[in-house]
Amino acid sequence: MIISSDFFRYTIIILFFVTLFSSLKTSYANEPEKIISYRKVLMKVTASHISAIASISRSDISYTSHVSTHANAIAEIARIMPDTFPEGTFIGKTRAKEAIWSDWEKFLQMASDLEQAATELAEKSNSSLKVDLSAGLSAIGATCSNCHKLYRKPAR
Ligand code: HEC
Repeated sequence: MIISSDFFRYTIIILFFVTLFSSLKTSYANEPEKIISYRKVLMKVTASHISAIASISRSDISYTSHVSTHANAIAEIARIMPDTFPEGTFIGKTRAKEAIWSDWEKFLQMASDLEQAATELAEKSNSSLKVDLSAGLSAIGATCSNCHKLYRKPAR
């Protein structure tokens, strides 16, 4: 079968627009203010999962099997959290301190402390033993506030 030259012409034109569109999309998504709002959403998502665990704990309802879902979600978010702090994203509507980037290793450690605390709660709640949810929550909460104390500016 002979493929017409029109076919190639159209293919090239389509590829050109696909490439152009995807490169525009990339630069759009990487604007600092977009990253800043995305990371704030991630932070709020972790806070919501904590509220979910606290709600299970307070009401003493029979959803303790859900605890590991929430705790694992927090651990997963802790793992991707550092990606949302690329260098230079301390300007604009953000409370991130510039020290994050000079102390990068320590910042990574604090995200990994959160991951560990959340993973521990997930593992405990999967075992047959009764879990002390409030102890697990305080352990997670401590890792949040340790990082905030050092790397988040006070609210204005
Ligand atoms: C590794 C450091 C780190 C850890 C761990 C961390 N945070 Fe944050 N968090 C920050 C920083 C930095 C900001 C400020 C982000 C900004 O304004 O750009 C922030 C902001 C927030 C905000 C405000 C979001 C907004 O809308 O402005 C909430 C809520 C929050 N964190 C909740 C949590 C909770 C809950 C945890 C623990 C489950 C947690 N964070 C763990 C560093 C951390």
